[in-house]
Amino acid sequence: MKSAQDVRETFARMGMNDRETVALTVGGHTFGKMHGNGSPDAVGEAPEGSKIHQQGFGWANKNETGLGEYTVTSGLEGAWTPTPTQWDHSYLNTIFAHQWEVKKSPAGANQWEPVEVKEGYWVPDAHVPGKKNPPVMNTADMAMITDPAYLEIAKEYHENPDVLVDEFARAWYKLLHRDMGPRARYLGPQVPDEVLVWQDPVPEHQGPLVNEQQIATLKQQIADSGLTARQLVGTAWASACTYRQTDHRGGANGARIRLDPQIGWDVNVRAGVAEVIDRLEQLKDASDANISLADMIVLGGSVGVEMAAKAAGHDITVPFTPGRTDATQEMTEVDTFAFLEPRHDAFRNYMQTQTTSIPAEHLMIDRAFMLNLSVPQMTALLGGMRAIGANVGDSDEGVLTDRPGQLTNDFFVNLVDMGTVWEPLDESEERFEGRDRATGKKKWTATRVDLVYGSNSQLRAIAEEYAADGGEKRMMDTSSAAG
Ligand code: HEM
Repeated sequence: MKSAQDVRETFARMGMNDRETVALTVGGHTFGKMHGNGSPDAVGEAPEGSKIHQQGFGWANKNETGLGEYTVTSGLEGAWTPTPTQWDHSYLNTIFAHQWEVKKSPAGANQWEPVEVKEGYWVPDAHVPGKKNPPVMNTADMAMITDPAYLEIAKEYHENPDVLVDEFARAWYKLLHRDMGPRARYLGPQVPDEVLVWQDPVPEHQGPLVNEQQIATLKQQIADSGLTARQLVGTAWASACTYRQTDHRGGANGARIRLDPQIGWDVNVRAGVAEVIDRLEQLKDASDANISLADMIVLGGSVGVEMAAKAAGHDITVPFTPGRTDATQEMTEVDTFAFLEPRHDAFRNYMQTQTTSIPAEHLMIDRAFMLNLSVPQMTALLGGMRAIGANVGDSDEGVLTDRPGQLTNDFFVNLVDMGTVWEPLDESEERFEGRDRATGKKKWTATRVDLVYGSNSQLRAIAEEYAADGGEKRMMDTSSAAG
């Protein structure tokens, strides 16, 4: 039963429900065998730990040939079915036909074998002609008939082989394609016509794209809407920052920020994104331009950056490429989107309290990596967002400027200022206070993800560059290219 918990948790992390888990395990173990025929002590170092001359081939096995009948990998030994080279219904036939008991494999690991092997279920040895072995199950296999929910599904599949075939095919396709991200990234003649919700589908763009003139008009309307640079930039960031370059999920396309579960996330509620989205939607509805809300949110971010730059005396144009579309709630897999919730976002000085023992600055690097940002881009964006005052909940942590809302390099100028002495507020060393070195007067507050740009030598080098004369322009160019 404990194994079922582990299996359920592991497959849930891959976005798989109970039916998919049973289909995959049953279908997967219809083929092949486990390997543990000999002492694990004969097995050498893992690939990464082995000598350089082994060229990445680890686990060299000194027992006889170390291969074929002597192979030791998991340490369990045997095949699940009497026909391990065929796709058939034999896994479920085998598991339901027997009573199972724990035995030791030749490598000393626990595995399950029939109390008595029934007629027709002996397994031909994979290497030794004429030798017959009992079928074998591992503990996770046994979970398929001991966990009550798995058992129900396994019984249904046993009685309905066609249902198993269809559900295995779908789950296998999902297992192999889920990390490819949105459907638009699929190429070639074999792409199925059926649209699957785990592909985070968005509608095709219809009609002509919004033109330059319309974009200019919309930008002016957004600038005149009463929304501040902080609100516009914060909301565009909130919609984009869920992106994960590892599997291409999340991000601004689809405008899923207005749907469940995103609209209810603590980070979005506290940042007040709903109000900004409503206002942008009104502007979109009042316009005759063929533009999606997803594009409006991104365009709003561009307007916010341009407004903040202008306030600081810089005339810049943030590039904007339209073409995003808006997904519906039905196109959104709420359960798996929940995993994309930002529990930390250094760029907006946000950290959920219960989180983790991982230092905040490491979490920042993780998010920057997921967003595919270079180190200078990460630095420029963070400094720019602090200057604009885009912190979640409007906190002043790390807002090292007397003129928030203006896109300046003040964050860097004040961070590297040696006239400030920093002290932690308590033993957790999460929050800090900066005082004037001469007078002791309190000047600033900040968190670890602010101060790391002064303490880490490489980040400090970039911070100093942005703090220097002319650095403001460089910071803007770098961050607007990253955006
Ligand atoms: C429920 C969780 C699972 C567990 C704990 C598990 C465990 C194992 C173990 C211990 C082996 C033996 C490895 C060795 O000694 O060489 C194995 C082999 C294998 N597994 Fe799984 N497995 C699971 C799910 C799956 C799934 C979902 C698939 C595919 C859809 C799959 C396909 C296979 C295949 C084809 C082999 C045989 C490889 C060979 O013949 O060398 N397994 N599995």
